[in-house]
Amino acid sequence: MAEFIEEYTRLRPFIAKIKSRHDLCLSCEEKSTLHIVLDLKNSNMEYNVGDCVGVYPVNDPTLVEKTLKVLKANEQDRVVDKRSKEEFPLGHFLKIKANVSDISRKLVQEISNKQSCPTKKGQLEELLGNSNALKQYLEGRQLWDVLMEHDEVSFELQEICDLLMPLLPRYYSIASSQKKHQDEMHLTVKLLSYDAHGYERKGVCTHYLCNLAPREEPIVPIFIQPHKGFTVPENPDTHMIMVGPGTGIAPFRAFMQERIAQGAQGKHWLFFGEWRREKNFLYGDYWLELEKQQKLKLNVAFSRDQQQKKYVQHLLLEQGREIYDWLMDGSYFYVCGDAKNMAKDVEQALIEIVRVHGNMSEDDAKAYVKKLRKEKRYLRDVY
Ligand SMILES: Cc1cc2nc3c(=O)[nH]c(=O)nc-3n(C[C@H](O)[C@H](O)[C@H](O)COP(=O)(O)OP(=O)(O)OC[C@H]3O[C@@H](n4cnc5c(N)ncnc54)[C@H](O)[C@@H]3O)c2cc1C
Ligand SMILES: NC(=O)c1ccc[n+]([C@@H]2O[C@H](COP(=O)([O-])OP(=O)(O)OC[C@H]3O[C@@H](n4cnc5c(N)ncnc54)[C@H](OP(=O)(O)O)[C@@H]3O)[C@@H](O)[C@H]2O)c1
Repeated sequence: MAEFIEEYTRLRPFIAKIKSRHDLCLSCEEKSTLHIVLDLKNSNMEYNVGDCVGVYPVNDPTLVEKTLKVLKANEQDRVVDKRSKEEFPLGHFLKIKANVSDISRKLVQEISNKQSCPTKKGQLEELLGNSNALKQYLEGRQLWDVLMEHDEVSFELQEICDLLMPLLPRYYSIASSQKKHQDEMHLTVKLLSYDAHGYERKGVCTHYLCNLAPREEPIVPIFIQPHKGFTVPENPDTHMIMVGPGTGIAPFRAFMQERIAQGAQGKHWLFFGEWRREKNFLYGDYWLELEKQQKLKLNVAFSRDQQQKKYVQHLLLEQGREIYDWLMDGSYFYVCGDAKNMAKDVEQALIEIVRVHGNMSEDDAKAYVKKLRKEKRYLRDVY
């Protein structure tokens, strides 16, 4: 059937198989980043390098069980999904339709309205009056924690289901080029797991992709989220500087596969960062091989291999003169990965490089970087 479908969308995803997955981190107890290969055979699905894939996850059955328990409900009870108007067994609804991890303000408000214990009601009202405190309270708590803390409160099953947020797709940078892997899509997924309020919590989608979803079964609904300019330059002679610590490396693996398949003559320079060379050098053999073949200039910052933190922006600053020369030569500058700290620090380093090596004032350097961005030569995919 699938081969007749022309295009897959968020509403009509392709159901992919996981062909293989393995941990890219070697003997690393604190971190797992997996290489996941999705099988696209017979799908006619097409993607471009720089695109992301949207993945619909499934909630962990243990989490669903915990939720059913606090709801004092049976998985076979019937409920209607208010969005699609479809009827489901409750267990199935909680597994694939509902966000049972995050709680909306509206649900907290409803719990507060129904709370008969004056002390607990007072606490909730206080939280509802202070959005920072509410955010802090909800952080690391899942639906079952909050309902358990307020076991005086009861809901009709349909009522609580209507108050749950939908389970949304998660996005992953595609780490392969179809010029090299026509029937596959590769992902680089960091498994999220953390302890909060006395329990181990797992990221919904990463736990699903890395641990729960069986291999070789058509089971993972996916769709393409096209890039908005974050892709290889049109001109294969254009140089590329790529900054991708951690999972930020993913699209650059795709870029290199694409450029090699194109026979591109432009130069490539990769700045990669991770914890430790021995354990966390994601796709290390590939980068070293490309370096050996003189297809890539490589700089790596392993933050935890020495006392003092070493990050990609430190390497950028060390190589400032040459970076500036590449920019003058028309190079594109790409950044992918953590938005909260890394991307800001890298931008600061870029401004500093331009200021020092272009003999500019701070304001002129900022304006130069702004112009790079406007010209779509400074491209970011940060999250
Ligand atoms: C454009 C884009 C591209 C991306 N590409 C990639 C990629 O290539 N690889 C990749 O691995 N990820 C990528 N991501 C991130 C990915 O989409 C997911 O956000 C990530 O995998 C976590 O999803 P999850 O369902 O496992 O976690 P969720 O179940 O969604 O949990 C995440 C939430 O857990 C909470 N949380 C996390 N840590 C803690 C803590 N210590 N204490 C308390 N609460 C905490 C936070 O509320 C956080 O929002 C990308 C995101 C975007 C937007
Ligand atoms: N919201 C956040 O605070 C936050 C932070 C990081 C990552 N994330 C998320 O975690 C996922 C990716 O994690 P990951 O483990 O693959 O990569 P990562 O956490 O981004 O770590 C990759 C490397 O970047 C280093 N790093 C930390 N802060 C940095 C900074 N300010 N500038 C430059 N490098 C810095 C890390 O060093 P050290 O760890 O040794 O400091 C590590 O060596 C993404 O989903 C990302 O959004 C979120």
